[in-house]
Amino acid sequence: MDRKIIRARLLSFLREPQTPDDTQSYRYIEDGGLLVEGGLIRSFDDFDKIETTGAQVIDHRPHLVMPGFIDTHLHFPQTQVIASWAAELLDWLNDYTFPEETRYCDPNFCAIMAREFLNLLSAHGTTTAMAYASVHATSAEALFAEAQARNMRLITGKVMMDRNAPDGLLDTAQSGYDDTKALIARWHGKGRLGYAITPRFAITSTPAQMEAAQALAAEHPDCHIQTHLSENHAEIALSCQLFPDAKDYTDIYARYGLLRENSLLGHAIHLSDREIGALAEAGSKPVFCPTSNLYLGSGLFNDAKLRGKGLVNGIASDIGGGTSYSMLQTLAEGYKVLQLQGQRMHPFRAFHWITRGNAVALGLEDRIGTLEVGSEADFVVLNARATPAMALRMDRARGLMDELFTLQVMGDDRAVVQTYIAGDACKGQ
Ligand code: GUN
Ligand code: ZN
Repeated sequence: MDRKIIRARLLSFLREPQTPDDTQSYRYIEDGGLLVEGGLIRSFDDFDKIETTGAQVIDHRPHLVMPGFIDTHLHFPQTQVIASWAAELLDWLNDYTFPEETRYCDPNFCAIMAREFLNLLSAHGTTTAMAYASVHATSAEALFAEAQARNMRLITGKVMMDRNAPDGLLDTAQSGYDDTKALIARWHGKGRLGYAITPRFAITSTPAQMEAAQALAAEHPDCHIQTHLSENHAEIALSCQLFPDAKDYTDIYARYGLLRENSLLGHAIHLSDREIGALAEAGSKPVFCPTSNLYLGSGLFNDAKLRGKGLVNGIASDIGGGTSYSMLQTLAEGYKVLQLQGQRMHPFRAFHWITRGNAVALGLEDRIGTLEVGSEADFVVLNARATPAMALRMDRARGLMDELFTLQVMGDDRAVVQTYIAGDACKGQ
């Protein structure tokens, strides 16, 4: 039956909550009903106000339903790189990540891993991802095909990289352009899929390839752009050495027309005031990757400073520099990174961030990240008592804020009872 009603406690954000008491920023319904049909949310109301005739009612009480989580930066071909022991970013890339990514030239392997990868995202409550594929067109092809089969909203792109990596992982300025062009023609805007033009980072692209990326960006203004920026000091120094005419790392991307509103820049940790100003002017979106930044020892993302300059930040797992697929664990580590800088992230803002906030960062807030009528029916069912330790903590909970904070600090895939994509349950299916 296509017409279904989800009965549960419902939470969805209308805008970013300014304080924990900002109750106008969200809708919370204690006995709510979500009418879903044709992959869209048709009603979001008190359960007893929803017309149930001809609909299958799925009762998820007493659990909490909220929009599916959105992960704005992670790497498909790093599914088997997580937990690789390295001193810092460049060693980690050279010793583990690049060798692993060479495997993604094989379409059969890519197809298997695309299934595993998207199963992991669903198991952790992530319903939309903006992911890097490997340099091989076949890896993006496999990920698009698997997302399409699941009717999942997904943005990806093959990385462009033509230097400073093993042979099996290099394209050329021309082949990077041609492969990207063909993938855009085949997948961009098809159903729920979108293409991200993906020069990996300044170190692995020659000036000629940056020009190719610039041409692609100009030819496809509605494609996202994703790359890495200012993650660690050795990376910054090498980038500036490779592009000596640029004012700084950010200026490398600016010179090649890669900074615009739909550009997402992973990490963005060690930025000067000039760079922050340039990003603000372009409307580009820095992406906070807390588990990765801690794991690789890259540094502390200064969320308050960037926000103070008017920037909109995404938040992401950055698998496999990141250590968990869970956006709950991403928030837990993000909370600690901000604590170390005297910045407080309250749970309402945290849950806004991984739902509507990341949708805003992607420019997709009219379609995903909320439970409002007309939105795509991507949502998660959460149980804040999923483990014995969480259940004991919840016995002392004083309301929604404590429940959210328990999920944020202690939760992971065990707290995700079910994940719905375009109205269909997909966890463990
Ligand atoms: N910079 C360039 N490539 C990568 C990557 O795969 N992971 C991280 N964390 N940083 C990068
Ligand atoms: Zn990354």
